[in-house]
Amino acid sequence: PEILLLNGPNLGILGRRQVHVYGTDTLADIERAVAAEIAPEYKLAGVQRDGEGELIGAVQDHYHVAGAIVNPGALMIAGWGLRDALESFPAPWIEVHLSNVWARESFRHESITAALSAGVIAGFGAHGYTLAAKALLRLLATRPT
Ligand code: DQA
Repeated sequence: PEILLLNGPNLGILGRRQVHVYGTDTLADIERAVAAEIAPEYKLAGVQRDGEGELIGAVQDHYHVAGAIVNPGALMIAGWGLRDALESFPAPWIEVHLSNVWARESFRHESITAALSAGVIAGFGAHGYTLAAKALLRLLATRPT
């Protein structure tokens, strides 16, 4: 079985994007850490796209996975198409933000996708993805079948 790690716009340049906000870990570092966390039970499908349409396609192409970890980036604010794609995603998923969005500008304080997620992890930088992987594994192991 697979777990999807989906990252939205501007997250492919992690490691050189506002490092004081997002840290020095690259997306490849994050994908390695998450893959290690979910192995050997689950295989990681890592996808990053800058465009909303491509992200919607990636969600639709992964309806078969056991669960997902999603950082929608700025699409958390107004990505209604991605939001609707996630609404019909059949597996549980966890929303991650590297930064503590509530400690930042007010336009980041509300996520239109978060209510569809099993839970949100924000403010712990790259480690938040590993925390999300742990939480997702627990969720999948304890979920009634
Ligand atoms: C982010 C927070 C968003 O507000 C921002 O647009 C991003 C990154 C985060 O991981 O902290 O692109 O999702």
